[in-house]
Amino acid sequence: MIAGSRVLVTGGAGFLGSHLCTRLVEEGADVSVLDNFSSGNLERLEKIVSCENFHLIEGDITNAEDVRQSVKDTDTVLHFAAKVGVIRAASHGIDVLDSTLKGISLLLSESVRGEVKTFVFASSSEVYGEPLRLPSREDDPLVPRSTYAVAKVAAERYCEEYATLYGIDTCVFRYFNVYGPHQNDNFVIPQFLRHTLKGEVLPVYGSGAQTRDFSYIDDAVFLTLEAMNRNRGFNIYNVGSGENTSLKKLAELISSLSIKECEIAFVELDRRRPQEYEIIHRQADISKIVSLCGTFPRHSLEEGLKTCLEALM
Ligand SMILES: NC(=O)c1ccc[n+]([C@@H]2O[C@H](COP(=O)([O-])OP(=O)(O)OC[C@H]3O[C@@H](n4cnc5c(N)ncnc54)[C@H](O)[C@@H]3O)[C@@H](O)[C@H]2O)c1
Repeated sequence: MIAGSRVLVTGGAGFLGSHLCTRLVEEGADVSVLDNFSSGNLERLEKIVSCENFHLIEGDITNAEDVRQSVKDTDTVLHFAAKVGVIRAASHGIDVLDSTLKGISLLLSESVRGEVKTFVFASSSEVYGEPLRLPSREDDPLVPRSTYAVAKVAAERYCEEYATLYGIDTCVFRYFNVYGPHQNDNFVIPQFLRHTLKGEVLPVYGSGAQTRDFSYIDDAVFLTLEAMNRNRGFNIYNVGSGENTSLKKLAELISSLSIKECEIAFVELDRRRPQEYEIIHRQADISKIVSLCGTFPRHSLEEGLKTCLEALM
């Protein structure tokens, strides 16, 4: 189903988008990327940038003409472009809401006009807020706390409305903490890895009891493409490992993998991050996506971290 299909990936020069594009190009899809390079870069695409079945469009999801040109003659749209992160959204709230909503509505309306068959939207575990129970299931109540999360909830609803009205098969993926090579340094795993390589102290906020569900990029890409191919109608899927790891345990694991064990320091919470947005625990219930895709060989956290460390050396 992938080979020969025409696929548009918005945000394809970003972390998740570039890994997806690489897999799609390798599997024989005709892939176009629409990216404004605000946080993306071409290095992530170096393996495929000169392939015949890869095309780059430098443009913006909020520009109607850029979106029209990009969606034309496309079978599948994977919408991954976003201003990512709770902190960034907190200081540019209107901007994040505006670009998220304008982008999704342009992409969906052009997808209807262009008779796109499959639409994929990258949402986030942030939509759950502080979960009422763990692990979080797709039908749990949404309590978004940040502008970033509110924008994701609204975009999910747009997707549902278009899928219902126009019959486009649509997947909304709620990614938990995906990590892997080429991730930018705003995230905890690349930060810790860089500290260990320099022999620096690993700063863990608070007691380090906060938990996250870390999933390795190859697993997230596998689940995304497999579910996208099998899905019919409108569905929301959690994408995670199904396991939760405390930040203290993460720091200890990274320290044990580095050449020289690192000191771990428990420091005050990051003051740049609005405290009302802090989420203590995260864990995905992945039974819905696993029952659709079947079991698959998952990377353990240790394996994934080793690969990231090697990529940085
Ligand atoms: N990485 C994760 O663990 C994670 C978790 C939850 C959700 N997500 C979602 O997955 C998607 C990709 O995340 P990522 O981690 O790869 O982020 P990223 O910042 O690496 O990638 C985002 C890409 O979008 C591009 N972009 C931003 N605004 C744009 C615009 N207006 N027009 C065109 N391009 C634009 C950027 O240049 C960048 O290449 C995002 O929608 C994000 O919200 C990611």
